[in-house]
Amino acid sequence: MIENNSQQFRHWNVEKDSEQVICLALDKADASSNVLSHEVLAELDTLLDTVASDSSARGLIIASAKSSGFVFGADISEFDHIDTAEAGARLAADGQRILQKIEDLEIPSVAAINGFALGGGLELALACDYRVAIESYDRRLGLPEVQLGIQPGFGGTIRTVALLGPQRALDLILSGRLLSAVEAKRAGLVDQLTSANSLLDAAKQILLSRPRKQKAGLVQRILNLKLVRPFIAKQVRAQVSRRANPSHYPAPYAMLDLWVRYGGKGKQAYKAEANSIGQLFVTETSRNLVRVYRLREQLKNLAPKSKDVKRVHVIGAGVMGGDIASWCALRGLEVTLQDQAPEAIETAQTRASKLFAKQLKAPGAADAAKARLRSDGSGAGQADADVVIEAIVERLDIKQKVFSAVESTAMPNTILASNTSSLRIEDMAATLQAPERLVGLHFFNPVAKLPLVEVIHGENTDTDVITRATAFVTQIDKLPLPCRSAPGFVVNRVLLPYMLEALRARSDGYSIEAIDAAAVAFGMPVGPVELADQVGLDVALHVARILSETLRAEPPQELIDMVESGKLGKKSGEGFYVYADGKVQKRPGPAAQFDQELQDRLILPLLNECVACVEEGVVDDPDLVDAGVIFGTGFAPFRGGPLHYARVRGVESIVAQLTALAEKYGEHFKPRPGWDALKT
Ligand code: NAI
Repeated sequence: MIENNSQQFRHWNVEKDSEQVICLALDKADASSNVLSHEVLAELDTLLDTVASDSSARGLIIASAKSSGFVFGADISEFDHIDTAEAGARLAADGQRILQKIEDLEIPSVAAINGFALGGGLELALACDYRVAIESYDRRLGLPEVQLGIQPGFGGTIRTVALLGPQRALDLILSGRLLSAVEAKRAGLVDQLTSANSLLDAAKQILLSRPRKQKAGLVQRILNLKLVRPFIAKQVRAQVSRRANPSHYPAPYAMLDLWVRYGGKGKQAYKAEANSIGQLFVTETSRNLVRVYRLREQLKNLAPKSKDVKRVHVIGAGVMGGDIASWCALRGLEVTLQDQAPEAIETAQTRASKLFAKQLKAPGAADAAKARLRSDGSGAGQADADVVIEAIVERLDIKQKVFSAVESTAMPNTILASNTSSLRIEDMAATLQAPERLVGLHFFNPVAKLPLVEVIHGENTDTDVITRATAFVTQIDKLPLPCRSAPGFVVNRVLLPYMLEALRARSDGYSIEAIDAAAVAFGMPVGPVELADQVGLDVALHVARILSETLRAEPPQELIDMVESGKLGKKSGEGFYVYADGKVQKRPGPAAQFDQELQDRLILPLLNECVACVEEGVVDDPDLVDAGVIFGTGFAPFRGGPLHYARVRGVESIVAQLTALAEKYGEHFKPRPGWDALKT
């Protein structure tokens, strides 16, 4: 018989009420959020035996005692101990066995989901007969294992198919995307939505009333038939291959194969799921994606969590300022937007409204965000803003003037930030009474898509200002990368040589398609020529001129000619490629032969500049460079970061290859000082 107690178990609170409903509430000891560690699962194992043998019990609620959410997934720190595929498969099989005990109970079970239910957490909920969740439009439910190079391993690839049918189930597990509770209810993943206060009552009611359990509809069951599955899989595989190369990212293909073979049914399906995740656990891809996950956490934790910033004032409502302002309003801040041209503010507000409509689905939320973003032609908002961000033309004299005016109006504690992409913070601060107040906040275009913000400090920037600026970046859900004020900071400095070498290779006779294919084959999200077109050839040329000394090379003449002839890339409809309706038109041709030297010509200069950034102290340590380059450029995540890749490939062999390339193509390839330090 189950006893009310909280002492016997470290991680679970156990309660049985007067109507004989048992509630197991997870409260992982010494943690602010719940994960399914080995210990948590072992206790659940024991508890479920007791529940099963309690003849008076009428139902089981699985809940969370943490306000941070239900369960965030498996305990990722335990992944490090998985050194063989067999060990990984055993871990999954053990989890499956425990969760199966919930499904096998004679009494009904329900998961009471208060917020995040991710990965193993959602699989725990899926093992219950019912799921009740707090009504919310925040995306917090899903099976994002694929982003760690693995797949659900506690029955998730199987139970989702039975519940949702193959189309929705595959979409969920192959993309790893998260659903809001409202979307999850619509999809059939959740049975009932309720308010936070009535979550446990609603869970109990469902147990006592025992409505019919959800299952996939007839059409979906037909699509799941053995003869139909290969046809669907073919289509899905084609879709997946557009975003994930199977030799770089095996997990989605492994999941698809599991489904084709077993259709999410039967004992063998569970066994195959466990074996499959076991094999994925020990791939280089998974190890590296777990590293990327940790790097993201490292950036998020660089500054203490704070909600100190309430009001932001943005000066300059162009491409960047307009989007920075709308992002801040989207994240709940009060924003005033100033520009000398009133029409620029209007255009920015129209763009913002589209963003709000797309991102904010809760009733009234988009209108509320619109109301938070106010036009402020006179700049009155400067006086009570916690942060002022300048994003006007890239001219030192004009920026200095603007900051001098802001300094006299803003509160003494207000953070003064510039979105400059190339000017030195020291120079901009030179005309200020208190130069230590100025910091750079370098957002990337498009702001809503790119997660990184470089936090640039000048020689004199106050440490407290840097910390508060870093915390602000985290507050608006961006990833901060603290950098010293040096030419190109990190992201532009490492990307420019990648783009410029592509243009030199083109002059040597390579087709732009072959050049881009070589980089994409390495794992880059976009080839360097297409990237240059996307960034804008005028912008690329501007940065190339600023960085020419640092990078030991003048911009290629062809780039200068293109800009002069008005071919600016995607935005003008033509650059190196031609664009129709904003879509790149590539010439069809035979798949390019793999060319190691071409790939090295593109990738190694990027690595060389990463080494220089560490050596010159632009960024504090190699892991931060890896994080910045992954989140700022999309550098092949499955490789774990540029410097990690360099270590794995071998520092000596890379230095030798750079030396050989320098002899053949020029001094800009010469290995930077600092490679030796990477060996340790
Ligand atoms: P933009 O030309 O689109 O917008 C600049 C806006 O500032 C215009 O609307 C203009 O009317 C306004 N402006 C100029 N002087 C002003 C003044 N004294 N007072 C008030 N408003 C004024 O420029 P964009 O591309 O948004 O760039 C802005 C800043 O962001 C620059 O420092 C640039 O280097 C930086 N940046 C640009 C990126 C890009 O991809 N465009 C990426 C990252 C940084």
